[in-house]
Amino acid sequence: MMDKQKLTVLIVGCGNIAGRFDEQRSPESLPYTHAGAYRQDGRFEVLACVDPDAQRRQAFMQYWSVDQGFAAIEDAVSAGYAYDVISLCSPSSAHFQDLQTVIRLKPKLIFCEKPVTYSVQDTEKIIAACAASNILLLVNYTRTWDPAVIRLKANIATGLWGELRAITGLYNKGILNNGSHMLDLLYFLLGSMTVLKVGRPVFDFFSDDPTVSVFLEDSHGLPIHLVAGHAEDYAVFELQLVFSKGILVMEEGGLSWRERGVEDNAIIQGYRRLTEGHFRQGEYGQAMLGAVDHIYHAINSGAKLLKSGEQALKVQRLCEQIKQVALATEIG
Ligand SMILES: NC(=O)c1ccc[n+]([C@@H]2O[C@H](COP(=O)([O-])OP(=O)(O)OC[C@H]3O[C@@H](n4cnc5c(N)ncnc54)[C@H](O)[C@@H]3O)[C@@H](O)[C@H]2O)c1
Repeated sequence: MMDKQKLTVLIVGCGNIAGRFDEQRSPESLPYTHAGAYRQDGRFEVLACVDPDAQRRQAFMQYWSVDQGFAAIEDAVSAGYAYDVISLCSPSSAHFQDLQTVIRLKPKLIFCEKPVTYSVQDTEKIIAACAASNILLLVNYTRTWDPAVIRLKANIATGLWGELRAITGLYNKGILNNGSHMLDLLYFLLGSMTVLKVGRPVFDFFSDDPTVSVFLEDSHGLPIHLVAGHAEDYAVFELQLVFSKGILVMEEGGLSWRERGVEDNAIIQGYRRLTEGHFRQGEYGQAMLGAVDHIYHAINSGAKLLKSGEQALKVQRLCEQIKQVALATEIG
């Protein structure tokens, strides 16, 4: 029976980020997925899901106790149900078409996985279509809700670590698919950035989304260097912030942080060196719960979206600029 107090949810795509990442973990663990976060939050009810893969859909329905499953979004539209929230978790290449279809269901909010679509023009069309139908479009750049990242921004502003001198990032698996997470994070911390130099494209996973090394700077001239790894080796997403009072490194995408301070060098007199430092556990695990809490307040109290389609579009434009220069480099 549907609880009338709860926000109703349709999940489109029943793979990793929809739920599978949490299916092998303890139900008490902090959730990494949409279904896991809705369940743990308790103010949502996932009524239906969509996946063309019947086996995956059945497994998802069984694990997450979802009553209705559809092979295509069109079937959900024909069934005539309404949902407060639609989580879009299908493959990135399907987002544009899937978004156009779910908009017809007129939910209050679409919680869209990144990237919104594969092209700036298509993302612009989706933003306009959502606005025309009065649908809130929230994009899951997950670190938006990571408490350690939010504190870092405040600590940069107050100078807790001294002057910020430079930033390096290491990522792989596509400038749009994963690099956009990095650029979104940098955008949040620093504001707008200018591209100075772009490396060659590395086709390490997606044939249409290369990983690219790039030099950027923020509006104060802070140097930022993103380094392209290779997705066949291992998954990597790390950010190193070089401050005057030490170095802070976000590792494993935010699951862990390393803090290194500065001390006098006991061997070479008159020099100072970085300490070995220590690791602390990250708070990335709280991000999906933060995201669904934000959805609840955006719908019920009109809270301003922390990661709207427009904000995601700014980052996508930067990704597109980097990609186009990288592709031209390869041809030239
Ligand atoms: N925010 C994050 O940190 C994060 C992490 C992982 C993935 N993602 C994003 O989530 C999306 C899905 O990634 P994933 O790793 O879960 O993929 P996945 O391959 O594990 O799952 C995708 C599922 O969608 C199904 N599917 C395919 N076409 C569909 C369609 N048209 N409609 C409905 N379902 C369809 C597939 O059968 C599959 O079960 C991608 O856009 C990806 O970039 C985001």
